[in-house]
Amino acid sequence: MLLLLLLLVLFRELCCPGESTVAPQTLGSHHPAAEEALSFRMLQISSFANHSWVNTQGSGWLGELQTHSWDNIVGNIRFLRPWSQGDFSKQELKNLQALLQLYLRGFAREVQTYASQFQLEYPFVVQISAGCKMHTAKASEILVNAAYQGLDFLSFQGSSWVPSPTAGTRAQNVCKVLNHYRDIKEIVQSMFGHTCPRFLAGLLVAGKSELERQVNPEAWLSSGPSPRPGRLLLVCHVSGFYPKPVWVRWMRGEQEQPGTQHSELLPNADWTWYLQATLDVAAGEAAGLSCRVKHSSLGGHDIIIYWGGYSILLILICLMVVVTLVMLVVVDSWFKKQCSDNFISSHVSRTSFAMGANTQDTRASGHQFCLAQESWIIKRFLKKRKASLKQIW
Ligand SMILES: *[C@@H]1O[C@H](CO)[C@@H](O)[C@H](O)[C@H]1NC(C)=O
Repeated sequence: MLLLLLLLVLFRELCCPGESTVAPQTLGSHHPAAEEALSFRMLQISSFANHSWVNTQGSGWLGELQTHSWDNIVGNIRFLRPWSQGDFSKQELKNLQALLQLYLRGFAREVQTYASQFQLEYPFVVQISAGCKMHTAKASEILVNAAYQGLDFLSFQGSSWVPSPTAGTRAQNVCKVLNHYRDIKEIVQSMFGHTCPRFLAGLLVAGKSELERQVNPEAWLSSGPSPRPGRLLLVCHVSGFYPKPVWVRWMRGEQEQPGTQHSELLPNADWTWYLQATLDVAAGEAAGLSCRVKHSSLGGHDIIIYWGGYSILLILICLMVVVTLVMLVVVDSWFKKQCSDNFISSHVSRTSFAMGANTQDTRASGHQFCLAQESWIIKRFLKKRKASLKQIW
């Protein structure tokens, strides 16, 4: 614990002298991502396999968007966006990086040293979320929490460490020890009460254009695994939109279907979001349903996709069927015309020579010949169509 204290005292020397005189920059109240973006957090996940092995992952988050990661091997901060440095100078960032290196090394060592005293049993995972939230330009809040084995363990409240009510005596003991070190508490307050809001304000200004961008969603339908026999699970996928707020419903006409279920909003790799809305319906009732999507990027022009309709393949097939039918009708009437012309001419020419008795026969055989020709052409025609239909399928 003494080592940790020494390290933390060193941090204070390293970190941004005179920072307390710098007030956070004024923030526009207009920020669209206001609810989410006004916090900056550093996440640390340390997995302790045994008394000599620990793996730590670190990352930085503006609201729910990852802006930084920690390179464990080199021990430096990776800036994931062009504006991830905010308005901090190179020197300030170098100091922060050195501070994080010392902290992470010191943290692992201290936890391993005190593991048996606090009855931490290998393997275990410690997760720490440390950052700040901005309410107004002047008022910010410190957000520092730790979890042990995935459960709340302790947090920093006001100016001291508070055990989580559900974490038992172990957390109480750790907090008792931590609260003895005034310097550590002062550093946490300075780091997350001053440096962090200042960094956050700089990030919001530097990343403004990207944070305020509007990206259209794309939507498509599919069917999910059938919930029960005779039922269909309709799935409406909506992806690639930014910012996060989105409205997706299954509709029949203007009527919202109350059974619409939403997945969680999932992040895409390109800083956009994905959501799916599902509806469990009787197989016979799916026709006429549509998925409707509202999003700020669409400017009131909602996306509406109908179930079972408007697929390009379907349109092509319908088109081909219609064309085939029209051609059949045309071919049919052409033949009928040809045949009746033939009949008339042959009939007229024959009647001029032979009268009466065999007139009926001539008419019948001529007509049969035409019918045979006609059906042969239709068959050939249909065969070709079938072959090309097969190719499409
Ligand atoms: C500690 O855990 C690591 C990772 O599981 C393993 O490779 C290593 O052999 C372990 N060391 C000891 C001393 O148990």
